[in-house]
Amino acid sequence: MAPYSSARDEFDAGNSAHKIMLDANENSFGGPIDASLARYPGGLRKQVLQRIANSKTLNPNQVFLGNGSDEAIDLLLRALVRPGQDNIIIMPPTYGMYAVQAQIQQAEIRSAWQNPDFSPNAEAVLRVTDQQSKLLFLCSPNNPTGTSLPESFILEMLEKFPGIVVLDEAYQEFSGKESWISRLHEFPNLVVLQTFSKAWGLAGIRLGMAFAHPFLIQVLNNIRYPYNVNTSTLQLALQALDNQQIVENQKQYIIQERERLAHALSSVKVVEKVYPSEANFLLVKVQNADALYQYLLQNGLVVRNRNKEPLCQNCLRITIGRPEENDQLLKSIQSFPNNWLPQKA
Ligand SMILES: Cc1ncc(COP(=O)(O)O)c(C=O)c1O
Repeated sequence: MAPYSSARDEFDAGNSAHKIMLDANENSFGGPIDASLARYPGGLRKQVLQRIANSKTLNPNQVFLGNGSDEAIDLLLRALVRPGQDNIIIMPPTYGMYAVQAQIQQAEIRSAWQNPDFSPNAEAVLRVTDQQSKLLFLCSPNNPTGTSLPESFILEMLEKFPGIVVLDEAYQEFSGKESWISRLHEFPNLVVLQTFSKAWGLAGIRLGMAFAHPFLIQVLNNIRYPYNVNTSTLQLALQALDNQQIVENQKQYIIQERERLAHALSSVKVVEKVYPSEANFLLVKVQNADALYQYLLQNGLVVRNRNKEPLCQNCLRITIGRPEENDQLLKSIQSFPNNWLPQKA
């Protein structure tokens, strides 16, 4: 399929000092905010691609930039799944968008549940796999469990799964484990997803990445919107890439706080289990998740109630905050009264 060829693909407004740009029906007066925003994004995308590729020791043709990694998930499904014919495989409990986007594409969703200790079940994956299985979504560290997948399991899937294996590394930076990006050259059926939304602290700019074989990246580029990542996002991403040390430092603080909070929570009466986490959140099993969730809300603390997720009965997912926020959370959970009932509105 030939992609839409945009004006800014042909000529970049970044060099507008040397050109009169009358090709894209923009406002040449510059608009109310910043003249750089009057132009469709062009060369800036290439700069960000190159910077990211360099930092991962990849070629830019192995990198896709999307409006969050959610866009990459959506485009992978649209590129590879024939509606009503093909299926995708997820390993619940896991990130909800795989199933949401798959439903939109009318993919059959097959579930290979994790074991109760949140280890993967290779046999369950292969049992539900057939020739119509186009995508296998692996999430490591997994949302909402915080567990990383063992290398041997990922290898087995890469060897045996007949379709594309998507390894979502949204939380990889918190795991201390090496990214699978360094092994892309070994596996043309591997797609690695990463994002600026977590460790990079830039969820608001919506920038996600897919790393894969150039052929697959080309397919994603062919079907994306021509200007799917906007100029402000690209400018801010370049700024962030110049300040990587801040990201590194904050990541260390978050990991330290995670360990401190996990330790402290494990001795609170209503807490039954704190699952080991390699991400920037903790999955915590409590006596009554719905009640504690409501209690925390009334105390001004918003966490995620995962009580209805498979294998997550009575579990709350708690993002690691700043030390004072974590202290506040701890204090509230410690003070949760045995006989507490939510106030009627
Ligand atoms: C596992 C996982 N993948 C992807 C995303 C979405 O990332 P983005 O903000 O890049 O769309 C999230 C967000 O919570 C996530 O938990």
